[in-house]
Amino acid sequence: MTQQEKIIVLDFGGQYNQLIARRVREHNVYCEMLPFDTPLETIKKAEPIGIIFTGGPNSVYDPSAPTVDTGIFELGVPILGICYGCQLMAHLLGGCVSPAENASAREYGKTDTVFDTGCRLFAGLPEHSVVWMSHSDYMSKLPSGFSLTARSANCPNVAIADEKRGFYGVQFHPEVNHTEYGQKIFDNFLKLICNAGCDWTMEDFLKTSVEKLQKQIGEKGRVLLALSGGVDSSVLAALLGQAIGNRLTCVFVDHGLMRKNEGDEIEAAFSKWDINFIRVNAEDQFLGKLAGVRDPQEKRRIIGAEFGYVFRAEADRFGITNQDYLAQGTIYPDVIESGKGGADVIKSHHNRLLPPEVIARFKGVLEPLDLLFKDEVRALGRELGLSESVVMRQPFPGPGLAIRIIGEITKEKADLLREADYIMREEIAKCGEDKNLSQYFAVLTDLRSVGVMGDSRTYDYTLALRAVSTEDFMTAKWARIPYELLDRISTRIVNEVRGVNRIVYDITSKPPATVEWE
Ligand code: XMP
Repeated sequence: MTQQEKIIVLDFGGQYNQLIARRVREHNVYCEMLPFDTPLETIKKAEPIGIIFTGGPNSVYDPSAPTVDTGIFELGVPILGICYGCQLMAHLLGGCVSPAENASAREYGKTDTVFDTGCRLFAGLPEHSVVWMSHSDYMSKLPSGFSLTARSANCPNVAIADEKRGFYGVQFHPEVNHTEYGQKIFDNFLKLICNAGCDWTMEDFLKTSVEKLQKQIGEKGRVLLALSGGVDSSVLAALLGQAIGNRLTCVFVDHGLMRKNEGDEIEAAFSKWDINFIRVNAEDQFLGKLAGVRDPQEKRRIIGAEFGYVFRAEADRFGITNQDYLAQGTIYPDVIESGKGGADVIKSHHNRLLPPEVIARFKGVLEPLDLLFKDEVRALGRELGLSESVVMRQPFPGPGLAIRIIGEITKEKADLLREADYIMREEIAKCGEDKNLSQYFAVLTDLRSVGVMGDSRTYDYTLALRAVSTEDFMTAKWARIPYELLDRISTRIVNEVRGVNRIVYDITSKPPATVEWE
């Protein structure tokens, strides 16, 4: 089996590095991402069949530029360098990398490229295709033993290879969809160059994860899991249940900002599982702390901290010690959008906001899903035998309706939004449109405007409807749901929900918007 068949991705800090790991996993090869400064000995011990250097924001000549032990080139393992990774390889092996100051060699975006299809990395590609470039340095001199394998109009040195040693470098990003033959390039690297069997599966991931968790938690250790009832934490509950059985305690905090009936539904569903399940009703505590707060990041901070305090109190109540763990269903987009390494903070996902004193209360925080994208978590859930209704549940953010109420939060507003959101969901499900959508919900804006109802003037809220389709929630398209359906939803909401007199439908994709409003 394939446990030896491992690719190591060395992370040099680029924004979409995890996409590289994902591309490898899509080819059924096990893959781990490690920091660039992982000791050579650790890499050697892992016995990878191939190594990938990722992109990154630095120039190889920056005094603080991340680098690697050059012993890595003596391991006899094929290496693929991407963007910064390519320049670093060229630099360390005796080539020359120069800033493309005013030179035309600086390239961003889609670029027509000519490939040498005799190179194993580009086997089977057409001679011309489009790649996604993003670099301001370029290779001005090749290291010895390397030849040029791709060029563009502006840059002669788009890709280099030393086929004998199995070293390949590309200036562009094969991991992004804009690179037409990116998948084929990964396929070639894995199959033709690293000789991967490509038979790793989610079943293997599950087995390895269970073993790792058992080892880390130990024979007596206990875990308190922050369970929201969403896909990620439900999958983690099943995973931890398999690893440590009844030493797992799942705590579901109802913060008073769940959707209509949701708290009861979650309680009913998990009470049927063979796990220790606890529901904590903390509406007053959360709404009290949120009173008067308008800033979205501040709302997130308060909710993240309050979750932590509830978990700490429950740990005390159930005798979970400081030798035990807290677990969260954090997934990769939560990590990256909360600002990992140099990446910009888009929004701090609630599970990244535990106060330090809560973290210190436990031996550690387990986040075994933090390298997976949503669709991969769903695949893992299926592997664990979870039903489609759990696995395909649309995501609901941990801070709940708090981020779907723009401006100040009150119980009245939360109740209003719950009703409107329920009508939207009911109508969408009734006509079967839910199967075409990844996520849909209502948002209560902070805008009030004049309307007329019966013969009277109203001055009420504008409610926004949002529906998107996406695979991994890193990008999303606004959904073209039928006008008749929008009409039914709109009519019902303004008729049935007091306080709303205008409905709008959000027609922006992500980017430039995000899925949630806040
Ligand atoms: P955005 O709004 O960032 O949302 O485009 C991407 C996906 O993440 C969900 N989301 C969250 N999930 N905790 C979560 O567990 C959070 O704090 C959070 N914020 C956003 C969002 O619903 C969408 O599915």
